[in-house]
Amino acid sequence: MTSAISLENITKTFWQEPRKNGDSSEGRRGVHVLKGISLEIARGEFMALQGTSGSGKSTLLQIIGLLDRATSGSYRLLGHDAQGLDDDAQSDLRNQALGFIFQSFYLIPYATALENVVLPGLYSHTPRSELRRRAAELLERVGLGDRMDFRPAGLSGGQQQRVAMARALLNEPDIILADEPTGQLDSRTSREIMALFQDVNESGKTIVLVTHDEEVARVAQRTVHLADGKIV
Ligand SMILES: Nc1ncnc2c1ncn2[C@@H]1O[C@H](COP(=O)(O)OP(=O)(O)OP(=O)(O)O)[C@@H](O)[C@H]1O
Ligand SMILES: [Mg+2]
Repeated sequence: MTSAISLENITKTFWQEPRKNGDSSEGRRGVHVLKGISLEIARGEFMALQGTSGSGKSTLLQIIGLLDRATSGSYRLLGHDAQGLDDDAQSDLRNQALGFIFQSFYLIPYATALENVVLPGLYSHTPRSELRRRAAELLERVGLGDRMDFRPAGLSGGQQQRVAMARALLNEPDIILADEPTGQLDSRTSREIMALFQDVNESGKTIVLVTHDEEVARVAQRTVHLADGKIV
């Protein structure tokens, strides 16, 4: 069986344009953020990604999430040559295979919890009624059955992150990518959210989770440490 995620010698360089009034002979300066990352993540695995601030964790997660492209190297996602796909094919694969959870929950403030969860389904051809049924089921599953009609402002941080988790699950993705999902939560709420991640992993989903927090990382089966753009 192929890996969920297979990275080979991935690099990422951000290019700074030279200042317009500066000496043009200087040329462009490159910031080498990822310096040859090779990593296999198995289907169904729960992996934590740790490393100091600026080590490249979010950059790597963005590449894995098809939100950005590597500068060089090869990337296979669920058997697809992800690097070789054009932008449209990448979006299709992203919508179908990946769910995202971020530190700032990124919920739509004027939409209810239920409407927020329905959102990623609007790109598909699934009827609205079926999406609402699925969203309600997911909100029940994350313990928010009695909060479906609440707007984000009426929900606690932990509850907002639960809505974001339900939203990430709507399209039944194989892989969940999370960047500091407990970064804004107190330790008790953080443990509740991690229990949910464990649940989601046990239901068969692959999880890649970036965290600063040692206790959070312990929930994962494996921790990979990044330092200065390399795996250590
Ligand atoms: N768009 C960009 N242009 C230039 N440099 C960038 C860009 N995005 C990230 N970087 C640089 O890449 C490095 C790694 O950033 P990244 O956000 O991946 O770190 P991180 O490990 O997620 O850090 P944190 O724990 O603080 O979130 C940083 O030095 C940052 O300045
Ligand atoms: Mg980051």
